[in-house]
Amino acid sequence: MPTDTAGGPSARFDALFAAALAAYRNAYAPYSKFSVGAAVLTDDGRVFSGCNVENAAYPQGQCAEATALGRMASEGGRRIVEAVVIGGTPGDGLLCTPCGGCRQRLREFGAPDLPIHVCGPEGLRRTATLEALLPLSFGPDNLAGR
Ligand code: THU
Repeated sequence: MPTDTAGGPSARFDALFAAALAAYRNAYAPYSKFSVGAAVLTDDGRVFSGCNVENAAYPQGQCAEATALGRMASEGGRRIVEAVVIGGTPGDGLLCTPCGGCRQRLREFGAPDLPIHVCGPEGLRRTATLEALLPLSFGPDNLAGR
C-alpha cells in the first residue's frame, strides 16, 4: 500500500474510506461529471463526510472537502486528525489531491502532519501530509491572540 507517511493508514482508514465512498456515490456533479467524496476524522473520534455539489452557475459549486468540513463544524467538530479524498474513476491512475482552496480549508482544522489519503473508488492511491501539500502555510496560529 503506497504511503508518504511513516505509519501509513490508521486503523480508522476503512471507516473513513467507507464514509467517503458513500458520499462519492452521492456526488452532485452533472457538469464536470467528476465525482468526489471526502471524509474527515475528528480528534474526538467522529467521522464527517461530504460530496462535491455543483451548480448551474458554475462558480457556486462546492468541493467535497468543503461539504465535509462544513458538516463537521456545524456539529461542533474543530480538530481533524485524518482525512480521505476519493475522486476519479477506477484505474485512471490519477491523484485527486485536494485543490488549493481545500488545502487551506483543511489547514484551518488540521495540523501540518495531518495525513490525507488520496484515493480512487477502488482504494488508496497515495498518502501525503498537509505540510507536503501546503508548505509554509498560513493558519490560525498566525492570528492567535487577536
Ligand atoms: N473537486 C472537489 O470536490 N475537491 C477537490 O479537491 C478537487 C475538485 C470537485 C469540484 C468539481 O465539482 C469537480 O471536482 C471538478 O473540478
